[in-house]
Amino acid sequence: MSQNLDALASLPYRPASPQNYSPNIGMVGCGGISKYHLEAYRSAGFKVVALCDLRLEAAESRRDEYFPTALVTRDYEELMRDDSIAVVDITTHAQDRVPIIEAALQAGKHVLSQKPFVLDLDEGERLVRLAEERGLYLAVNQNGRWAPHFSYARLVAQGGFLGKVFGVHLGCHWDHTWVEGTEFENMKHLVLYDYAIHWFDILRCFIDQPVKQVFASTARVPGQRLMPDLLGQVAVEFDQAQATMAFDAALPRGAFEETFLSGTAGALHSYGSGNQDQSLYVTTKDGTWQPKLEGKWFPDGFHGTMGELLCAVEQGRPCVINAADNLHSLALCFAAIESAETGKPIRPGSIRRLPA
Ligand SMILES: NC(=O)c1ccc[n+]([C@@H]2O[C@H](COP(=O)([O-])OP(=O)(O)OC[C@H]3O[C@@H](n4cnc5c(N)ncnc54)[C@H](O)[C@@H]3O)[C@@H](O)[C@H]2O)c1
Repeated sequence: MSQNLDALASLPYRPASPQNYSPNIGMVGCGGISKYHLEAYRSAGFKVVALCDLRLEAAESRRDEYFPTALVTRDYEELMRDDSIAVVDITTHAQDRVPIIEAALQAGKHVLSQKPFVLDLDEGERLVRLAEERGLYLAVNQNGRWAPHFSYARLVAQGGFLGKVFGVHLGCHWDHTWVEGTEFENMKHLVLYDYAIHWFDILRCFIDQPVKQVFASTARVPGQRLMPDLLGQVAVEFDQAQATMAFDAALPRGAFEETFLSGTAGALHSYGSGNQDQSLYVTTKDGTWQPKLEGKWFPDGFHGTMGELLCAVEQGRPCVINAADNLHSLALCFAAIESAETGKPIRPGSIRRLPA
């Protein structure tokens, strides 16, 4: 095997765990997504000691299934008062999250916040400053970065295997109409905001250049009943690169998801019937390499994010999913939504709040 293929065969794309740091973790929010956090933490051996939800029965049910000795409570302040808890995992919706993040930081805890981090970039910056002042880590749960295909593609792009990446083309064609009857159904920009934030974030891992501007549009599917537009498309402009994204979120059958990276030295192509089932190929001057990817986005991505936070704390190094960096992904997302609202190209950073 050539040196290049040897290196591709041993990329460390799987989630990591700390060597000797096993802090007590408290979780606030025991709704739908908490299941995947807890499943991943249990199999990674992370220690969840408290579960909080306004709906006590939701916390009790998660306790019974995953961490039978954990304390349950309706009041997140109870977790903040517990000095044995060093890390708080906050999985409520964004509109409920800021006071909880603030309380955790004030109480001296490291924080992992679910995505999308905040509704207002200035508020996000304030939380970042608060964490810095208190010497704490504030990280955002962009677990897509540890979906096996995205994790591998990230290391390929950042490792220079493709030369300089100048094209990123992402396509998601699936059925998201399960949101009917949930809180997600009331999000006007469900697709470009709540869903696509993982794709805006991963795009920034693939292309290391500032975005010049973004253009986006949304539309409805024939016969659509749900309020949010289920079609969304995005074009992102860079000085020496381009990116496109297409989201068809109401496909009843024949789901397909694709990632294509073009670089000055080669290409990466990943595709499959969804993000849990991907075949990935890397083509360089040495030929084409297909890794046997292990794991799945759900739940491994959730081991990836908490593992990265704990490893960063243990090693005293910056966390790659730090909130300051995440604000750039959100700025891109907000700009795309503003573009879809106005029909104009928008510069990221110029739109500070999630457009109505
Ligand atoms: N891949 C992913 O990372 C992924 C997937 C799905 C959802 N999410 C995100 O996770 C977040 C939550 O989604 P969900 O599907 O779990 O929502 P959900 O509505 O099922 O759960 C939210 C929970 O938070 C609780 N809650 C609200 N305010 C609270 C408070 N002050 N104290 C304690 N509990 C409180 C609610 O009672 C509810 O149980 C959203 O931001 C969503 O975008 C991420």
